[in-house]
Amino acid sequence: MAEDNEDVQLEARLAEQDRFEPPSSFTEQANVSDPGIYEEFEENWPDCWEQAAELLDWDQAHDEVLDESNAPFYEWFIGGELNASYNCIDRHIEDGRGDEVAIEWVGEPVDETRTYTYDELHEEVNEVAATFREMGVSEDDVVTMYLPMIPELPIAMLACARIGAPHSVVFAGFSADALATRMESADSEYLITCDGYYRRGDALDHLDKANQGLSNVSHETTTVVVDRLGEAGFGHDLDENQHDYADLVSEQEGEEVEPVTRDAEDMLFLMYTSGTTGEPKGVKHTTGGYLSYAAWTTHTVLDVKPEDTYWCSADIGWITGHSYIVYGPLALGTTSVMYEGTPDYPDKDRMWEITEEYEITQLYTAPTAIRAFMKWGKQYPEEHDLSSLRLLGTVGEPINPRAWKWYYTHIGDEDCPIVDTWWQTETGGIMITTLPGIGTMKPGSAGPPLPGIDAGIVDTGGEKIEAGEAGYLTVDKPWPGMLRTLYQNDDRFINEYWQEYSDPDSDEWVYFPEDGATVDEDGYITVLGRVDDVINVSGHRLGTAEIESAIVGVEGVAEAAVVGGDHEMKGEAVYAYVITEDGYDGDEELREEIVAGVEDAIGPIARPEEVLFTPELPKTRSGKIMRRLLEDIANEEELGDTSTLRNPDVVSEIQQQAQSD
Ligand code: PRX
Repeated sequence: MAEDNEDVQLEARLAEQDRFEPPSSFTEQANVSDPGIYEEFEENWPDCWEQAAELLDWDQAHDEVLDESNAPFYEWFIGGELNASYNCIDRHIEDGRGDEVAIEWVGEPVDETRTYTYDELHEEVNEVAATFREMGVSEDDVVTMYLPMIPELPIAMLACARIGAPHSVVFAGFSADALATRMESADSEYLITCDGYYRRGDALDHLDKANQGLSNVSHETTTVVVDRLGEAGFGHDLDENQHDYADLVSEQEGEEVEPVTRDAEDMLFLMYTSGTTGEPKGVKHTTGGYLSYAAWTTHTVLDVKPEDTYWCSADIGWITGHSYIVYGPLALGTTSVMYEGTPDYPDKDRMWEITEEYEITQLYTAPTAIRAFMKWGKQYPEEHDLSSLRLLGTVGEPINPRAWKWYYTHIGDEDCPIVDTWWQTETGGIMITTLPGIGTMKPGSAGPPLPGIDAGIVDTGGEKIEAGEAGYLTVDKPWPGMLRTLYQNDDRFINEYWQEYSDPDSDEWVYFPEDGATVDEDGYITVLGRVDDVINVSGHRLGTAEIESAIVGVEGVAEAAVVGGDHEMKGEAVYAYVITEDGYDGDEELREEIVAGVEDAIGPIARPEEVLFTPELPKTRSGKIMRRLLEDIANEEELGDTSTLRNPDVVSEIQQQAQSD
């Protein structure tokens, strides 16, 4: 009883508190503890970014930090040469740290683990690099990886980096169609995949999905298949252009491959992300700028040190896993933990069991996961000793203050700073957050832009807005981790990111991330969410156009509009409004076909939460769908202005239908 009272009092005190200082135990040991860093970077821009480049080993030092002559096609560390795989592996071995652990892999089945020291990682990455060479992969060939969270994924990525072949990782939860689109778009002739993997105890057939995707790729392909499931597998037969990973790699036993020297501006990888059209965007990241920025942000924001055991629970199929499971942590020579499964398998304390067992020092996860932990209850973390934790991080979507405070109290024991990190696939690394050893934390607000990052909030005309008002987030200066272009589509690169607020005539370029935000009197930025037709489901970015085109592809559907509706756990959920074709009923059967159609085209993460059949969609006189009104309906909010509608009556009809469903 007394304990309950204490809890109530604690919750009440926290609910009122809107500022938190970093604990002194953290500040004393922080990688960055001098607030002068902001001024120093501002005064010394762009040379301040030398500090990021200095975290790496270069074969050839750069001549110039930044070349702005062809803006917005900026170039960083021009003349510099390096290899990413060497930086993430070999140099740590040369420093005598080959016996230290690079990757701790935790499988979903309890007790299935693998540990790779830097020496062991070196051995396998070299053998895989030799395998790729043997298969005919040359420098600049794009190698696609369609793998779940198994060690072969980072190993294959680093093997590609070693031979200068860019990788394109496709999230394993994406559908066969999504894989095919990405392989086609990147002209990728090589695929690394696996037989299957575990999800909540069940073995999933992944190769079947990969094969369906490959059947829609128009060019010749060679596939390497990792045997993840062994005996529990599906007994697949491989085609003649498909090879078993272990067989190929064993042929290269003991082979060493000299890391290929790459220009700073050479492509390290491509990562497809959703945009406003149905066609995913191939974001291009480079070897020098991206890797420097990933390493620098891992050092300054996540406070990673070589002796840490650091855990980012994202999937490597997304940018967070690229930058903060693979490249940033390994460049710094730390131990990076990788977990294959879900947080609730076999029980809802799995994350805390892993934290305790591996004595995790930093945990970086998504607000969606934190909301789930909160719902499951504090008894799960309380069963475990989490005192090894020093820092907590969140990424991918706004975090509501309640979830922030729960994380702070029940996971961090009020003794770990929380970094709420805003960034995007395109930015390569963290852009807006407090520095954990310096900044006052304000739950719900990401914080100020990092040193050297010039971000602000503007109105539709591009004028800076007053504190407290809502506007659009912009980034006014380039940074090393920025995307360089969209793969083979420079025009779209300009249109998507630089059109809105730049003034090309006076050579002033402003990057527009397509997020809405507010700023307070201390310069803290609160990111409100996307202002384009992209929705954020559990921190995963999905284009409404992609989902709509999947729905319209279902027989019996005439037209569809998709919006994001608020969702307690996922942040946003997919709401689909559908008009049927003449002769078709909007019944349960069609609803199921629509859901299946979306899963087939994109993957289960895009599954609509609600499918509402409607005779019409609210449209303006020029025929544009008024999504804002559909969002109001999804969120059961009072309707916005309907006066510009061609068909105002339809809104109340849809609303009634939504309420009766
Ligand atoms: O809307 C912002 C949201 O996620 C978008 C980027 O998604 P993606 O490229 O998939 O990368 C996610 C992981 C970096 C942004 O445009 N977002 C990301 N972090 C935050 C956020 N929204 C609010 N707060 C954040 N910390």
